[in-house]
Amino acid sequence: MLKKYFQRVEKPAQKIENISQKVRTFPKRTNKDVVFGKNYNLKIDSIEHDKGNGVGRINDFVVFVVGGVTGDFLEVKITESNKNFAVASIVKIIEPSPHRVLPDCPVYKKCGGCSILQVGYSFQLKIKEEFLRETLSRIGGFDLQNLEILPIIPAENPLFYRNKIIQPVGFENGRLISGFYRQNTHEIVDFEKCFIQEAISNEVVNVVRDWGNRSKIQPYNERNDNGCLKNIFLRVSKTTNEFVVCLVTRTQKLSFWKTLVNELQQKFGEKFVGLVQNTNPEKGNVILSDNFYTLWGKDFIFEKLGEKKFKVSIASFFQVNSEQTINLYNLVKDFCSLDGTETVLDAFCGIGSIGIFACENARRLIGIEINEKAIKDAIFNAKLNSLRNAEFFVGDMDFTLPSVLRKNERINVVIVDPPRKGLSSKTILALTRQKPEKIVYISCNVVTLSRDLREFSHQGYKISKIVPVDMFPQTHHCETVCLLEIT
Ligand SMILES: C[S@@+](CC[C@H](N)C(=O)[O-])C[C@H]1O[C@@H](n2cnc3c(N)ncnc32)[C@H](O)[C@@H]1O
Repeated sequence: MLKKYFQRVEKPAQKIENISQKVRTFPKRTNKDVVFGKNYNLKIDSIEHDKGNGVGRINDFVVFVVGGVTGDFLEVKITESNKNFAVASIVKIIEPSPHRVLPDCPVYKKCGGCSILQVGYSFQLKIKEEFLRETLSRIGGFDLQNLEILPIIPAENPLFYRNKIIQPVGFENGRLISGFYRQNTHEIVDFEKCFIQEAISNEVVNVVRDWGNRSKIQPYNERNDNGCLKNIFLRVSKTTNEFVVCLVTRTQKLSFWKTLVNELQQKFGEKFVGLVQNTNPEKGNVILSDNFYTLWGKDFIFEKLGEKKFKVSIASFFQVNSEQTINLYNLVKDFCSLDGTETVLDAFCGIGSIGIFACENARRLIGIEINEKAIKDAIFNAKLNSLRNAEFFVGDMDFTLPSVLRKNERINVVIVDPPRKGLSSKTILALTRQKPEKIVYISCNVVTLSRDLREFSHQGYKISKIVPVDMFPQTHHCETVCLLEIT
């Protein structure tokens, strides 16, 4: 049973500023010398953090080069020319950067799935550390001398790590294809093996694609808004290798799914635990609707993180890199350093995994999350891991948090792990009014993190420690954990 259920689920009232734009601020130059379709030679000075492109200049005019690596000398072709910047593709590598590596992936030049697979791993880590420092200074306004920023925690396995994939489906040369979009397009790059997905995921997608072709399943056609199969969505357990397949379709009608069940059972036996359908008739970029139907088996997997076991429903959020999640959560545990007397709030708790992993020692644990399915998982997971002191609330943070804070005792420690847009001012104010001794902020977006840290420091919090964790190797994304303490 849900402990409490808040019906009111609304978008946060505060308009979140589109600060990702600010990442691209360069001196203004005219583009008259940078002509669309023409080739130029240039040197790559850095890698930007919005999309992971190389940045070079032609007569001081900024050019973003897809696949460019700091130190490369390249011949490039201009594919887009705007007022303040141009975009280019690589024609020839005249002199490669010492940080450039040759990936095994045959489609890395085209596929938008990884942005920096061609960058050596140690340099990837440097880029992320540098981006964090630069953004804390530029957006957060912090003096870096006064911040303790610890070295990034690298991934032991920077390839084949993703436990969740969603691959769009399309049609090419009379065949159903599936892959990722080429950067900045809706053109699908078909592949048989993705180098950042769990190895079993590749095998599963190939079975689904073959079934789709043999069964003449109509791939969704974005342009005409017709056809059926839109995406292949998988969740895989790193520890047990069990997986659930979810087919995202435009229409409810889906033929021959029983054949697919048979084929997956034959090839993967008990590892294949469920086939789910998600119907989404809407056009646009939102992949999943709320309409999930379990066609066969279960709609969840179990994953183990250290000693703890978690039920993860296909519809719930879960960290995509299970191995690094253990490092991330251990850090959170360390930062919380509970002595058993504290009430802890796990805000944006998802399936409850952080709180359950890091706060078994809390006097009381309170979780808040907008996704009802995830909250049901959290309640289940607390029981599964014998946590008797946990309560979970479902609702939008902006509306649910004030009510939870009003009705409960003072919170001593807060863990916040918001989505990319970060926290609203309303949430920051509601939290800081409680004056918790510690706030542990986990973020997958350094830009909104820096903005929010500035707000917390205005509200009397000292940023005691900052640790980046590489949850997303081969991409430009970076996860960060911060410890904030009341002054
Ligand atoms: C980055 S995830 C963190 C989940 C969890 N802490 C974990 O480690 O797996 C952010 C979570 O916030 C939830 N969420 C998004 N918007 C929300 C809102 N307005 N109010 C409450 N929860 C929200 C999402 O459903 C998601 O589970």
